[in-house]
Amino acid sequence: MLFSQQQWLRQRFFVLGSLVLGSLFILVVREGTLDRLPLICPIKDRLRPADVSGQIPLHTLQHKQALGLKLHRRNSTKEQLRTLRLIKQLPRAIIIGVRKGGTRALLEMLSLHPAVVKASQEVHFFDNDKNYACGVDWYLKKMPFSFPHQISIEKSPAYFITEEVPERIFKMNPSIKLLLIVREPTTRTVSDYTQVLEGKEHKNKTYNKFEELVIDNNTCEVNTKYKAVRTSIYTKYLEHWLKFFPTEQFHIVDGDRLITDPLPELKLVEQFLNLPSRISQYNLYFNATRGFFCLRFNFMFSKCLAGSKGRIHPDVNPSIKEKLQRFFHPFNQKFYQITGRTFNWP
Ligand code: A3P
Repeated sequence: MLFSQQQWLRQRFFVLGSLVLGSLFILVVREGTLDRLPLICPIKDRLRPADVSGQIPLHTLQHKQALGLKLHRRNSTKEQLRTLRLIKQLPRAIIIGVRKGGTRALLEMLSLHPAVVKASQEVHFFDNDKNYACGVDWYLKKMPFSFPHQISIEKSPAYFITEEVPERIFKMNPSIKLLLIVREPTTRTVSDYTQVLEGKEHKNKTYNKFEELVIDNNTCEVNTKYKAVRTSIYTKYLEHWLKFFPTEQFHIVDGDRLITDPLPELKLVEQFLNLPSRISQYNLYFNATRGFFCLRFNFMFSKCLAGSKGRIHPDVNPSIKEKLQRFFHPFNQKFYQITGRTFNWP
């Protein structure tokens, strides 16, 4: 009698314990963000080199991506990497900018594709003289592990506005594919300002009001010396890039649409990269709390971008906003002309 009671208690304890552990696991998986990295699944034992050939199912690949990262971190042996056929490859496509255009969202969303592996950090190889002096081997080391049929992609938004970058990229690979994500220029300028403002506030520093920075006090015209304004004159930088690469090597992503309806934009990028269409609506879900689309890798693992993406912008004086829009208008027209892509910007 006493024995069966103990057994019953043990069974109950076991069932309850499993339930608690299971819920905890689901909670951890669902709440993951980009800041806390996705090494969640117990991948090592599930993976067999035989999985590698042919089309890799999306969920398997995410384990493999995680595995690559894990191997990288643990200083894995060459033998292990050879067995798994994981290698480092220079990027075949780069997200060159533009800062605050949605570069992080684009990179993360593209990494939902089984054939795309992303460099997690901004590499800053071509815009930083010190990094560039380390040579292309340094750059290669910064790339993630990937399978030979996959492509590596990195994003460093400063590339778009740094003069030396196009020539340096051309020297590495003249046929590389270039992704440029843009947003309505006035919104991008406000977003840029908001990021710097937040940085100052964290350091308990004061900062000028947006209106004071974008308008030149002496002329009462738009202040083109202010970097956040200059960066939004997309055509100015693109024309410089076109001295090195033909227009066909660029694909322009609509950053405003990537926010509201990301899938069509991602389909266009898949086409541009000559990848089979794999990212689907299943991989993207709207998170009402965040107010943005988040990423679903598989039934267990989904994540939203970190809180630093999607900041609340300060209110801007409507007349200043209009002035900026009028200022950007002719540059935008030229940008449409060059890229062959028209946006509904004012
Ligand atoms: P805001 O913070 O101004 O809203 P970048 O990664 O180039 O710095 O761009 C940041 C911008 O990406 C954010 O600007 C945000 O609007 C945009 N974004 C696009 N898709 C997003 C997503 N799914 N989640 C969060 N931010 C996203």
